[in-house]
Amino acid sequence: MSSQALLRNINTESAASQPSELITPFGPITRRFDEFWTAKQRQMHSLHYANSYRASFKPELPEYFISRFTSPGDRVGDPFGGRGTTILQAALMNRKGVSNDVNPLGERLAAPKINPVTIEEISERLEKIDFNAPVDMGREDDMSMFYHPDTYRELINLRNYLTKHRDNVDRFIEMTALSRLHGHSNGFFSAYSFPQISIPKVNQAKINKTRGIEPDYRDIKSRILKKAKTTLKSGQIEELKRWAKHQKLTTGDSRDLKEWESESVHLIVTSPPFLNQVDYVQDTWIETWFCGIPREEVEGKIVQTPDLNKWMEFISRTLSELHRVLVPSGLVAMEVGEVRHQGELLNLDEVLVNLTCSKQYNQDQFRVKEIYVQSQQFTKLANCFRVDNNKLGTNTNRIVLMEKI
Ligand SMILES: C[S@@+](CC[C@H](N)C(=O)[O-])C[C@H]1O[C@@H](n2cnc3c(N)ncnc32)[C@H](O)[C@@H]1O
Repeated sequence: MSSQALLRNINTESAASQPSELITPFGPITRRFDEFWTAKQRQMHSLHYANSYRASFKPELPEYFISRFTSPGDRVGDPFGGRGTTILQAALMNRKGVSNDVNPLGERLAAPKINPVTIEEISERLEKIDFNAPVDMGREDDMSMFYHPDTYRELINLRNYLTKHRDNVDRFIEMTALSRLHGHSNGFFSAYSFPQISIPKVNQAKINKTRGIEPDYRDIKSRILKKAKTTLKSGQIEELKRWAKHQKLTTGDSRDLKEWESESVHLIVTSPPFLNQVDYVQDTWIETWFCGIPREEVEGKIVQTPDLNKWMEFISRTLSELHRVLVPSGLVAMEVGEVRHQGELLNLDEVLVNLTCSKQYNQDQFRVKEIYVQSQQFTKLANCFRVDNNKLGTNTNRIVLMEKI
């Protein structure tokens, strides 16, 4: 069945008029609308807030499903792991975790959280790094619109150090530095910029011009230490360290999770890219630059497509791979949103339900149990782009809970 044929079954009305039951060839599916977790910000372990990441979900989301559908010692997975929200929450709840992302940046952000170090170790290590070694600036990329020359020299020295030193302390420092590369306050290394998105150089130059600013000097060491203290303030460091041997991070495509064992995962909590709502390559370019990840390593591999047929094919193939790695009767909680598609509002939860009912896709693999629609306020980022209801982005979390047949 083509996506057009499938879409004829799909309600494209606004969120307010959505039915609480979806009728499928296999019977009705309940759609629950509720506030399943708090809309308040930063209520969970401080490690979750170590980095901003495009389209990451709140840690309350995995916590909700992990607490209801798994027991300590079970394995929880996320094939689109991003900054590692699911695996960190799994570790904090004594579950074994496995997380994957096609972008190698995901592993750089997630690994230090599931294997953290102490603030004393970080402080001691920072003292050993030579931030002021001479650097041949002529050989470096021009980042003068973001950084003061002295800040940039320190940043290059840190980057050079991190190419050769990779123990857990170094990796924690790297993760923390990644969170400080650009932002709007004095705690960041850059001139006034966006914290969640790496904006293009020309846009940064325009911001500087409009605000009449030149990047001022920002000392790197003290900012890393300050942020690391905040990140580690919830504690549980020793417990996480002990539990780290049960956690696994992989880098690759969600359709082929080579390093994930068959029938090993009890629950998947995940959120795929929503068509082309987010440009994961462009929006993380400063982070990938800092990590020395070549653009070709992510471009073309990250799936971000406006084509609904291609998206459905991609999700369907991912679901088949998830079917392989799940234990019998294992569960997938897949978070999707509502997107604008060809001028209409499309609820991707309904597309997922259709995939699981269609012979051509995942009919014999999954049974949809329930759909959870968490009504949520817009994020600060959405507000600043003036994204409002039913026009552009997503304003609800829709989680389709599926059971392996
Ligand atoms: C919505 S984000 C997930 C964010 C994550 N839940 C978190 O809290 O950080 C989707 C992720 O899918 C990744 N991705 C895109 N295409 C992929 C693919 N083919 N295989 C695996 N991951 C992919 C992106 O790099 C991005 O990190």
